[in-house]
Amino acid sequence: MAPITILLLLLTSFFIPSQTHVLSTSLYQDQAFTSILISQQGLDFIKNLLITKAIFSMTPLNLPTIRKSINFPFLGSVHIVLSNITVDKIDVLDSFVMPGDTGVAIIASGATCNLSMNWGYHYTTWAFPVDISDEGSASVQVEGMEVGLTLGLMNQEGTLKLKLMDCGCYVRDIFIKLNGGASWLYQGMINAFETQIGSAVENAITNKLEEGILKLDSFLQALPKEIPVDEHASLNVTFLNAPLLSNSSIGFDINGLFRARKKVSIPKYLYKNLRSSVLCTDQSKMLGISLDEAVFNSASALYYDAEFMQWIVDEIPDQSLLNTARWRFIVPQLYKKYPNHDMNLNISLSSPPVIRISENNIDATVYADLIIDVLQTDQVIPVACISLVIRGSGSVKISGNNLAGVVKLNDFTMSLNWSEIGNLHFGIIKPVIWTIIQTVFLPYVNAHLTKGFPLPIIRGFTLKNAEVICSNSKVTVCSNLAYSDLSNLYRFQKQHNLFSTFV
Ligand SMILES: *[C@@H]1O[C@H](CO)[C@@H](O)[C@H](O)[C@H]1NC(C)=O
Ligand SMILES: *[C@@H]1O[C@H](CO)[C@@H](O)[C@H](O)[C@H]1NC(C)=O
Ligand SMILES: *[C@@H]1O[C@H](CO)[C@@H](O)[C@H](O)[C@H]1NC(C)=O
Ligand SMILES: *[C@@H]1O[C@H](CO)[C@@H](O)[C@H](O)[C@H]1NC(C)=O
Ligand SMILES: *[C@@H]1O[C@H](CO)[C@@H](O)[C@H](O)[C@H]1NC(C)=O
Ligand SMILES: *[C@@H]1O[C@H](CO)[C@@H](O)[C@H](O)[C@H]1NC(C)=O
Repeated sequence: MAPITILLLLLTSFFIPSQTHVLSTSLYQDQAFTSILISQQGLDFIKNLLITKAIFSMTPLNLPTIRKSINFPFLGSVHIVLSNITVDKIDVLDSFVMPGDTGVAIIASGATCNLSMNWGYHYTTWAFPVDISDEGSASVQVEGMEVGLTLGLMNQEGTLKLKLMDCGCYVRDIFIKLNGGASWLYQGMINAFETQIGSAVENAITNKLEEGILKLDSFLQALPKEIPVDEHASLNVTFLNAPLLSNSSIGFDINGLFRARKKVSIPKYLYKNLRSSVLCTDQSKMLGISLDEAVFNSASALYYDAEFMQWIVDEIPDQSLLNTARWRFIVPQLYKKYPNHDMNLNISLSSPPVIRISENNIDATVYADLIIDVLQTDQVIPVACISLVIRGSGSVKISGNNLAGVVKLNDFTMSLNWSEIGNLHFGIIKPVIWTIIQTVFLPYVNAHLTKGFPLPIIRGFTLKNAEVICSNSKVTVCSNLAYSDLSNLYRFQKQHNLFSTFV
């Protein structure tokens, strides 16, 4: 029954940096392109969630039967049994979470619990040579309980490992209320059983916490190292480096790049190797996720590689543009060679689009070849190839837990790659190409971008009031978190044991 100061003493050991921490940092010197920072507000939110879940998965909590023989004046030796001791309810008044050098301390103080139990006794005295016994129920209130634990957080081969480093539970006061029974019994119970009930509660809660942390650890270890984006791509969410613990936040680095789900041939780029920092201007946000522009360029490289970026355009809003008749005066040679032929346009990207992120701006440069095909009965005849450099600017927004985007056309340049129909007058062609980019190319790209890709967020959590900040070579999402309908979970928890996978 120690006060909180002892708890704090117990926990101080974890503020001393340990050797393993240093080792694990040097083991995983890979490159991280996405960083996640959980602020004090975010840690408080998660801590409250964990405490709520812990309480709900712990109660009702059965404690072992307590037996004791006590000597009473005149009565002699009385054998008392406390059975079916059950913690029905735990309330936590105050709690806090503190990141330290090697882990996180969580302390719940001023907790109370209500217990119910059955009591029974029997004795024989020299006066009456018969067995005397009685039984009844009692309620017990435990007050001023302090529960503390320190969790070590490590990167174990790319997954998060959670280790319970210290765990303690201290009970200060116990109040026993007998329903029925004699007053001598009542006094005897208080004197003899307080300590035992107290330590039974302490042990049971400590054991439950140990179990809970093991479950939470296996939950974290089972988190996938890849998040599927679509049939072509997934995000590599392998953890890199040791978690970065400051006195008010925890940071995680993950690889964060797109990778092909089937083929594995993304061109290697030279990325700068920085431990990226997460900077949210609004310090009250729970979570910051920073994505390096390399993440976007890895997506670009992947979809380019998946030959996803090639279109045959044979339907456009102004369909007459896809007949040589319409080009009669724009490219006379074309009409002369193939009068009144239908045409299509074969647009393909000649290299992966390049994405640059700067202060408040995202620029995309797309290199495309546009081949003009003339359609003959059973033949496709390429007649000219125009190389395009399209410059667009993009904006990103949050859609659910996805980061989605939209691009708009800024300008483009054209150059003739080759031609079977002589020179083309770009001045005349430009508005046509402009229309095609605006009405065919951009809507296609934007249809994909508006879906976006998932941010690395554990299932059950959703972003709330998120804002997106573009800074030099980085997109940062700053957001609060919500946990999917906790009140519903409360109701179903008992029936379906929904929390069994968590705590
Ligand atoms: C044990 O306690 C629980 C909850 O307090 C109660 O529902 C149950 O009836 C008790 N069992 C016995 C045998 O008294
Ligand atoms: C716990 O016990 C105390 C004292 O007996 C009582 O005031 C309180 O309402 C009880 N709480 C619950 C949830 O049963
Ligand atoms: C956290 O650390 C910073 C410096 O690293 C210090 O200025 C600040 O006061 C500390 N905050 C707390 C709550 O200890
Ligand atoms: C995912 O990222 C990790 C860490 O950078 C790397 O070691 C691993 O090879 C990547 N996985 C794939 C499939 O690319
Ligand atoms: C489109 O053009 C590319 C060359 O840029 C070519 O490889 C491909 O076969 C063409 N597609 C069709 C359907 O003509
Ligand atoms: C010219 O077109 C061919 C395909 O027709 C393409 O492979 C090549 O990259 C283009 N050249 C330039 C400079 O765009």
